[in-house]
Amino acid sequence: MSIFYIHWPFCLSKCDYCDFKSYVQKEIDLDQYLKEYKQKIDIYTKYNKNITSIYFGGGTPSLLSQYFVYELVQYIKTRFSVCNNAEITLEANPRTLDIHKALAFKEVGVNRISIGVQSIYDDGLQSIGRRSHTAREAIECVKLMASIFDNVSVDLIYNRPGQTTSEWKKELTETIYIFNNIQHISCYELILEKNTKLSMDIESGNKKKPIDTDEFLDITHDILDKNGFEMYEVSNFAKNGFYGRSNLSYWRYEDYYGVGDGAHSRVTVDDATKIAIEQVGTEQIVTKLTEQEVIKEKIIMGLRSTLCGIDEKFINDIQKITKLEKNSYIICKDRRVIITYEGLKRLNLVIRYILDV
Ligand SMILES: C[S@@+](CC[C@H](N)C(=O)[O-])C[C@H]1O[C@@H](n2cnc3c(N)ncnc32)[C@H](O)[C@@H]1O
Ligand code: SF4
Repeated sequence: MSIFYIHWPFCLSKCDYCDFKSYVQKEIDLDQYLKEYKQKIDIYTKYNKNITSIYFGGGTPSLLSQYFVYELVQYIKTRFSVCNNAEITLEANPRTLDIHKALAFKEVGVNRISIGVQSIYDDGLQSIGRRSHTAREAIECVKLMASIFDNVSVDLIYNRPGQTTSEWKKELTETIYIFNNIQHISCYELILEKNTKLSMDIESGNKKKPIDTDEFLDITHDILDKNGFEMYEVSNFAKNGFYGRSNLSYWRYEDYYGVGDGAHSRVTVDDATKIAIEQVGTEQIVTKLTEQEVIKEKIIMGLRSTLCGIDEKFINDIQKITKLEKNSYIICKDRRVIITYEGLKRLNLVIRYILDV
């Protein structure tokens, strides 16, 4: 099983906290891009052809036309074996979607929309420098999308400059109340990426530093759990089993085929060989992974989700397993090691302990 990740790097405006490969550009040669994306898709035709999910991420892929999305989905469908119930996700900015565009995306096969809301308050958006939409636009967009799509996900950011834990509690409670028919929520703790405008604003004292506490995560977990959202990764919560299929594939260490400048891939060539491919411009940088690198990646990815886990044999010291289990950081089931909520809270420490680094 494999998935496609298609990266569209353009946005309406650059958010102050963003460290992604994303750009604001008016003139874009769409025909040229379409041609290049198809060439990049072709690279993978010699590998596993069973596709379970296609993910349009970015940047802001909802800026694309339904025609562009249709062309790529069809192109993949004619060259690979895309399963009937494949998940086709499109990341969206609230300002870029109206009823017509949403229906058009649905018609060309998109069946999951992931909306970047970040905050349901304007001052929350201002505090992180997200200027591409208002809170009202985000709220209206989510309500509209939930009336069109059966599978809607919302991204939020917490521990924003100046935000207290009680304010987050109130905001998350209100968010779930307003968005009562969405299936998935991703709640990310703000990461201050180097050289972003936001981290410079904080360094220079123009904005408050986020607080160093576990309390935000505990609040997030408790509120979402009480409202039927299962935490299956530190930032991801699903209702009724609506887990993000692409995310699950990464954590299960299944193959993924990245398309677009800067996109990464992991590809199984034969039982014993896994390669990494990075697309840089029109070039591909291919690296063969060693057995040790593959095991390390399997550990790092598999422990991220409570639904995945790793083979016990990857942890060569039985005492480590006993100690982690005693601290309730992992559970062992059917010779697999699975992370717990307590373990997720200290994931980096758990991984470093297992890897001896
Ligand atoms: C892959 S990003 C792209 C989504 C889309 N470009 C957008 O911003 O709406 C997915 C999510 O990551 C989160 N994110 C991006 N940068 C972040 C940061 N510095 N700290 C925490 N979360 C971040 C945001 O919630 C964002 O919606
Ligand atoms: S919309 Fe998303 S990708 Fe674009 S600048 Fe903002 S956070 Fe970055």
